[in-house]
Amino acid sequence: MVVPANAGMNRQPVGLPCQSPSGPRERGDEPPDGTFELTTAGWRDVLEQAAALGVLQLHLSGGEPLLRRDVVELTRVGRDLGMYSNLVTSALGLDRRRAEELRAAGLDHVQVSVQADEQEMSDRIAGTRSFDRKIEACRLVKELGWPLTLNVVLHRQNIHRVGEVLALAEELDADRIELANTQYYGWAWHNRDALLPSRAQLAEAEPVVDAARARLAGRMEVVDVLPDYYSEYPKPCMGGWAARQLTVAPNGDVLPCPAAHALPLPRASVRDDTLDHIWTHSPLFEAYRGTGWMPDPCRSCDRKDVDFGGCRCQAFQLTGDAARTDPVCHLSPDRHLVDDAVRAANRESVPLELVPRPHRAGAS
Ligand code: SF4
Ligand code: FES
Repeated sequence: MVVPANAGMNRQPVGLPCQSPSGPRERGDEPPDGTFELTTAGWRDVLEQAAALGVLQLHLSGGEPLLRRDVVELTRVGRDLGMYSNLVTSALGLDRRRAEELRAAGLDHVQVSVQADEQEMSDRIAGTRSFDRKIEACRLVKELGWPLTLNVVLHRQNIHRVGEVLALAEELDADRIELANTQYYGWAWHNRDALLPSRAQLAEAEPVVDAARARLAGRMEVVDVLPDYYSEYPKPCMGGWAARQLTVAPNGDVLPCPAAHALPLPRASVRDDTLDHIWTHSPLFEAYRGTGWMPDPCRSCDRKDVDFGGCRCQAFQLTGDAARTDPVCHLSPDRHLVDDAVRAANRESVPLELVPRPHRAGAS
């Protein structure tokens, strides 16, 4: 069995009804609007099961994890179970008191998302006035002695400022910066034309990133994730479906990747089964595990243990069938779908207006 090394947990706002004392496998108190959340006791049970399963890392992510009142307590549970913990946050709500509590609870690492290097653009893309508070929170993270990762999603509307983004990370003394090009699911899918960079923009950004990586070597790790629409081969998404990671959603659903809820697959929940059973036997986790499910050209390809046929969510988003070869692959019979988007991104004029982001308090 492959041992999972990483449990992501998505969070929802604490205002939702989540305070009943039931454990994770009890039902009956679920409100009809779908806003049920695991209780603190429920999460504790999930974390204990995860530790027994061999999970080593706990990523508290969202939505926005700081909106849960018990995030400090759950961090402490993770620490007591020997897990390395990472808070993936918008940093809104990371005030000094909360930060000091998290430090005392044993939180190991903080990752802050920033949408740009300057206020106007960052706030416009985030859909809320948040830039100044994020920067303040980044300084607090460093002051309290945590390693800081800055996560900046790059796209057509901010990639020309990648040099300034790197300078901001340097000024904040970040230990790591992730320049993650947009993945086109959810909100980004609806804005793909306005977000996919042109070939010329990528060519301009590349030497800037390379120079910063060389200059900052040993001080700051620069991780640059290129847009896979411009690649010949797809990314090995999640290190393979249900191979290394799992996500537990606020309502107890367990997912092989955070976006997998969009796929037409049977649901798995810690309120119905143990984490061990879900990981090992559930139809959801078994659906695309390994290589046996693959169609051609993946089935007969010598890269199938390298990229695992790419991303199931991207295959579904583009073709309506999650079992197809990721259309990013140049060997895929569906590659024309990606080529059409790339052609559109390289036209002379591209509409830049964004469909507004569905906004939740504290997120982004
Ligand atoms: Fe990867 Fe499949 Fe493409 Fe081969 S055919 S490179 S396994 S996506
Ligand atoms: Fe779900 Fe790639 S994002 S498998």
